[in-house]
Amino acid sequence: MESFAGKLAVVTGGGSGMGRELVRQLVADGCSVAACDWQAGAVGDVVAAVRSGAPPGVRVTSHACDVADEAQVLRFRDEVLEQHSVDHVDLVFNNAGVGGAASFVLDSREKWERTFAVDFCGVYYCTRAFLPLLIASGDGVLVNTSSVDGFWATLGPGLPNTAYATAKFAVKGFTEALIEDLRINAPQVQVALVMPGHVGTDIIANSRRAAGLPSPEAMSLAQLEELIPPGARAGLVRVGRLPANPSADDLRQALSWLEASFRDKAPLTAAQAVAIILAGVRSGTWRILVGRDAGLLDAAVRAKPEAAYDYPALFQDVAARAKEGSQ
Ligand SMILES: NC(=O)c1ccc[n+]([C@@H]2O[C@H](COP(=O)([O-])OP(=O)(O)OC[C@H]3O[C@@H](n4cnc5c(N)ncnc54)[C@H](O)[C@@H]3O)[C@@H](O)[C@H]2O)c1
Repeated sequence: MESFAGKLAVVTGGGSGMGRELVRQLVADGCSVAACDWQAGAVGDVVAAVRSGAPPGVRVTSHACDVADEAQVLRFRDEVLEQHSVDHVDLVFNNAGVGGAASFVLDSREKWERTFAVDFCGVYYCTRAFLPLLIASGDGVLVNTSSVDGFWATLGPGLPNTAYATAKFAVKGFTEALIEDLRINAPQVQVALVMPGHVGTDIIANSRRAAGLPSPEAMSLAQLEELIPPGARAGLVRVGRLPANPSADDLRQALSWLEASFRDKAPLTAAQAVAIILAGVRSGTWRILVGRDAGLLDAAVRAKPEAAYDYPALFQDVAARAKEGSQ
């Protein structure tokens, strides 16, 4: 697909971060977009902002939908067909995602399954709902967002990420499994897998909101201790963001810092990440690594899979590759 002009794209999680940028950049390219989010106000604001500058003939709609709820996904699909007066869609970006339930041991089953449901079942339900419409397009592309956590199941020393990584591995497996299935049974649809490294977005704050938690200043000590588990606290102590025996106020400040610095100190902005994603889709590649960090980690893990969780060995390998690449 060399151009998005005149096409119709579905974007999940369009209210923030990479989803918001997908809406902006696709519309700027002349593509109509139907974007959904569980934060209906956020995706409504994104759509209202891009609509005014949209090229003639480009239609942009916003929809309230929790992708982890199949009935809501089916309602979203029906709204898309009705509001865009179409019988097919050309692109589906399964982008919505949240973090949460990092520990299988410590976190509740309910929280763990909720993160898995958003990050994997959301992709699965949307693919079930929209694949027939991509087939009907005659030239469809399904773009599923996994993560570096889809091939490396941790956030690093002391930082397990079990629900998220399990779901992102599943997204990767599902998407790769579709390659041969579509090639044989629906060759008019291409599939692409997106694996971003660190991209500056509000995903930490949005994941807190999705867990029903208030802003850091309004959180209780128990909520803070659950959200910032021991391994993460130790990491914050190491980088000088927390004293050894933190008070509730210390934890509140550290969480605010974490949310802001994840967004503001990333190697890539959401706009840069989406430019890479859309260039990948245009080129027809199925494997879209986003960011130098993602590329280096992918190369290191594939070269020495046994060393993936031996952090000193892995980080040494990544550093050597980075040095080699910069020479
Ligand atoms: N930011 C990163 O560093 C990074 C790295 C790797 C992968 N990713 C993945 O990229 C995708 C986009 O993340 P982002 O960083 O732009 O985050 P973000 O929080 O800025 O945007 C995600 C959007 O998805 C929405 N969303 C969450 N749960 C939903 C649900 N159940 N139904 C509908 N919408 C829902 C959120 O409300 C939000 O608007 C996610 O799948 C994420 O896991 C992000």
